[in-house]
Amino acid sequence: MRTELSFAKISGIETELLAVLAADTQTAKGPEAKPAPVLLVADAAVKAAAEAVLASGEFKAGANETLLIHAPAGLRAKRLLVVGLGKAAKVTADGLRSAAGTAVRFAKPRGLRALAFALPQTEVAAAASTQAIVEGALIGDFDADTYRSDRKDKSIQSFVLVADANVKAAVETSFAEGVILAESQNFARTLVHAPGNKMTPTILAERAATMAAEVGLKAEISSTEKIHELKMGAFWSVAQGSADAEPPALIVLRYEPEGVKDGPVLGLVGKGLTFDSGGISIKPSSDMDKMKSDMAGGAAMLGAMRAIALLKPKVRVIAVVCATENMPDGKAQKPGDVQTAMSGKTIEILNTDAEGRLVLADGITYAKQLGATHLIDAATLTGACVVALGMVTAGTFSNDDETYAKFEKAIEISGEKFWRLPIGDEYAELIKSDIADIKNTGGRWGGAITAAEFLHVFAEDTPWIHLDIAGQALIETTRPDMAKCASGVAVRSIVAWTRQF
Ligand code: BES
Ligand code: MN
Ligand code: ZN
Repeated sequence: MRTELSFAKISGIETELLAVLAADTQTAKGPEAKPAPVLLVADAAVKAAAEAVLASGEFKAGANETLLIHAPAGLRAKRLLVVGLGKAAKVTADGLRSAAGTAVRFAKPRGLRALAFALPQTEVAAAASTQAIVEGALIGDFDADTYRSDRKDKSIQSFVLVADANVKAAVETSFAEGVILAESQNFARTLVHAPGNKMTPTILAERAATMAAEVGLKAEISSTEKIHELKMGAFWSVAQGSADAEPPALIVLRYEPEGVKDGPVLGLVGKGLTFDSGGISIKPSSDMDKMKSDMAGGAAMLGAMRAIALLKPKVRVIAVVCATENMPDGKAQKPGDVQTAMSGKTIEILNTDAEGRLVLADGITYAKQLGATHLIDAATLTGACVVALGMVTAGTFSNDDETYAKFEKAIEISGEKFWRLPIGDEYAELIKSDIADIKNTGGRWGGAITAAEFLHVFAEDTPWIHLDIAGQALIETTRPDMAKCASGVAVRSIVAWTRQF
């Protein structure tokens, strides 16, 4: 999809589809209070073209509600699409992102390939609106039918955001940044969307290396030998069951901006399970297919690194992605085994399906060894987190309030939903083992938290944030603004976090 900013007069724009936004200005409540939709454009011709249908009461300007007008009078656009934003007093950048996605996903199945979108004037600043809208458009354009033999590319060819000339200076940078962020999120989605047979650890590493070369990151890819050399006993314990058939990959990417020789080094650590069968503690077969997405944390880190390389913040960043399958086999690890992690800590394996924390343990230790002063990890780590927060909100955990405050700012920018859950000594108690330093499960209750405490053992006192995205990696219900497939969650938030340093 080609994206472009235009400062032309809206009514003069020739396009297949011109999208404008409307919000409900009704503030009264009760049965008498009819919705009062108002168009968020100044152009008199656009207003006139939509006037009659807005007055009819058929369109309420609810969030992502759409209304199509053919051959709108006084406009050069062939069609006028009005997209609702909901209550005028509650308009957010996230609502704008979603509305742009909705417009694109309205156009796609109708074979409309060119779309112009009017930048609305709302409480949200023009720069933030611009970024959100171009992100929403690109994210909305992504579709999931890539493996169909009769695939018809319904992708939008051209998306033009039309803004007022007086905001030109304010919106140009945000527009370019929005494109980078959304394309990086879509890059992550492509990786997550691919099934296990088409996204093995080796292929994931190749994709990371190709991307790194394209955007100018340093990449080091290694496998079994290096994992042994580094004494990554926890990572290897997961990989050993399939290493002969499908070797693991240790992916390291580095962003080293010129002239930045000191200051913090951010370590991005991702869980890269290209397929999680559970291993010997095998999962039930229903929904096991979803475990192709168990590398979504790793993909988020790769997507974030792509964006970082292009946005060029003045801070050094290292990404470590531990990629492997988790499979049952004669060589697979067994419940009861004891493993020695890279840090020297010993781990009693009670459940081979609690494998994400094992690969992350060594990924975290390695990131620290490579110089990381601040850590963030992302993982589809626990079903318990999904039980706690549902599919809407992801879990986050941190050992450092100052570092976490930067993440809070980041999610304000990204619009992604995260909720901080507690950690602490009483939870750490639950993963103490009778025979080793720790065990890899903490019992039935608070499973997302005991998993976080497991990672904390390896992060130690290094400021660290853990993102549990188990419920958000795949969108499982159809949405107006985004296809039902991999979401690319966390990419934008991680990038926004790195830009706070
Ligand atoms: N990859 C799963 C977690 C998961 C569950 C991701 C649902 C996405 C959707 C993880 O490796 C896992 O199996 N976790 C176990 C841990 C348990 C054995 C302590 C879980 O959550 O059941
Ligand atoms: Mn598992
Ligand atoms: Zn897993």
